[in-house]
Amino acid sequence: MNLELELDQLSGTAAEKIDAAADARALEQLRVELLGKKGSVTELLKQLGGMAPDQRKAFGEKVNRVKQDLSDRLERKSTTLSEAELARKLASQTIDVTLPGRGEAPGALHPVTRTIRRIESIFNSMGFESVQGPEIEDDWHNFQALNIPESHPARAMQDTFYVLDGSRLLRTHTSPVQIRTMKRRQPPIRIICPGRVYRVDFDRTHSPMFHQVEGLYVAENVGLADLKHDLQQFLSLFFERPVEALFRPSYFPFVEPGADVHMRWALPGQEPRWLELLGCGVVHPNVLDAVGIDPERYTGYAFGMGVERLAMLRYGVDDLRLFFNNDLRFLEQFR
Ligand code: DAH
Repeated sequence: MNLELELDQLSGTAAEKIDAAADARALEQLRVELLGKKGSVTELLKQLGGMAPDQRKAFGEKVNRVKQDLSDRLERKSTTLSEAELARKLASQTIDVTLPGRGEAPGALHPVTRTIRRIESIFNSMGFESVQGPEIEDDWHNFQALNIPESHPARAMQDTFYVLDGSRLLRTHTSPVQIRTMKRRQPPIRIICPGRVYRVDFDRTHSPMFHQVEGLYVAENVGLADLKHDLQQFLSLFFERPVEALFRPSYFPFVEPGADVHMRWALPGQEPRWLELLGCGVVHPNVLDAVGIDPERYTGYAFGMGVERLAMLRYGVDDLRLFFNNDLRFLEQFR
């Protein structure tokens, strides 16, 4: 009979097409063509209504069996295709575990940081406590309380960066941290204050931002002998050899007497000479007065040193700007 023949042909070619489907899209298209609302199997099913009852039963069973077969076949093919797709993806994304790794470059502390930490650890071991202060200061802490009144010529020594309206400034030295600490507590005080300072200055030995470490020891009966002893000891520990230090009279408004400390230093191939290292002195009574410490009862010493200067000497660096250029070829030497 006509319809049966049609059904046999249909199921034969449909099975072949399903097996040959290249991908999920082609397969879905086939499903619509065969089993969709207007699919060819569906169309055959629609014809059942016009058949005689006995024919309808036999043909109906057959169409439904074909429908079920095709549906199963589509399902199996779909599984096969997605498994193949997964296998293809896995194959294209394999990792070659035998390739060499990218390696790791360990970082290192900046030479200035290393030097600050070295200075701190030496002074900490000598009983000095590390304290910090703000980099944006006011005139009183940076100058006036340090016995540098307005129009004092010492202000011209430090080319100051002023902030906004001029009532604030970038601290030109770490000495204001002395003031802040003494305002807060009474002696005995034994501190060092490392930090950034700023001056309008830029050449081979000056940078607009650099680092200082301030030291202060205030108690009863602290004097010049303590200062000389402690700095001498620090320098020997810092440079890891006995250091010959010279204290030469000098002027800083916040100390009296004041001194520059020089050290015997031989550059390669040159005669040793005296090199200026830091400033220091016995705390001026005006400074103690300004912070409410009784100068009749307490005395003290103070010093201030440039970190980059000490780092240059220790590491043999002859241009201070190298510390701030962030050139890895330079920095990598400080592992
Ligand atoms: N504040 C000074 C400067 O920046 C350094 C200094 C000198 C600090 C003598 C002191 C000192 O505490 O006693 O040049």
